[in-house]
Amino acid sequence: MSGSRLEARALSLVREERELVRDIDVVAEPGRITVLVGPSGCGKTTVLKALALLEPIQGGTISLDGRALHTLGEREIRREGLRGHVLAYVFQSHALFDDLRVRENLLWALDRRERGARISRDEAENRANIAARRAGLPPELLARPVADLSGGERKRVAIARALILDPKVMLYDEPTAGLDPPRARAIDRLILELRDQGLSSILATHDLDSVVRLADEVIYLHKAGPEEPGRVALRGDLRELQEHPLGRAFFADSLIRFSPGTPP
Ligand SMILES: Nc1ncnc2c1ncn2[C@@H]1O[C@H](COP(=O)(O)OP(=O)(O)OP(=O)(O)O)[C@@H](O)[C@H]1O
Ligand SMILES: [Mg+2]
Repeated sequence: MSGSRLEARALSLVREERELVRDIDVVAEPGRITVLVGPSGCGKTTVLKALALLEPIQGGTISLDGRALHTLGEREIRREGLRGHVLAYVFQSHALFDDLRVRENLLWALDRRERGARISRDEAENRANIAARRAGLPPELLARPVADLSGGERKRVAIARALILDPKVMLYDEPTAGLDPPRARAIDRLILELRDQGLSSILATHDLDSVVRLADEVIYLHKAGPEEPGRVALRGDLRELQEHPLGRAFFADSLIRFSPGTPP
């Protein structure tokens, strides 16, 4: 169940002839959480999607446990289940089927991956139950349509859908966005539990409380101007983020709650 080391070096991402981010180094390691922060539009989601192999990269390298991924073709990525199976991306919008029940959403992920392997219905159900339990979903929720669920429950379903494929690296985009503080705390606790199980994690967030609770390493992305690419302006721990002028300015309102220098 332990994680893998996912390493991106000097990542450059170009979309519609515009360089969105340049020279980004990010590493995910087993049992650690790396947090990407920075203003809207600096490229956090774009970087996460590239790391999940959902979108191509235009410069730099991505490797998994020392093996280059950026040189692999689509066929190899699919055959090895690298996208989704090994590298799990939890969409900010959840990307669930609202009309389907939770169980069907989980089995759908499994069906896509295991289609060729022909696992039995019982085994599939068993894996859905295990994934739901790991994500903290009560069993009775499995029979409910996703449309009936709260935001926090949907987030857990999205995480369970990732877990059913036994990923090595979790990539979470704004996992607590739109949740009230207790629900946000609960999702952060789940992310910590998964970290403690050895998974490697990278997440993007605007929530300083989450940064405080989760980050082993903080990477602050910054654009020097509207047409400039996002670049790493700061890499460090929470204290360094709090002391850096960009971090202080960005989190000014939230920082009022924390006394200077003391991680709460
Ligand atoms: N496929 C694409 N084609 C063109 N532009 C894109 C594409 N994907 C992202 N962008 C642009 O790249 C920039 C960075 O977007 P991104 O969503 O990565 O930012 P972000 O840091 O995640 O922002 P937020 O904090 O609001 O989620 C934005 O200006 C966005 O419009
Ligand atoms: Mg984003």
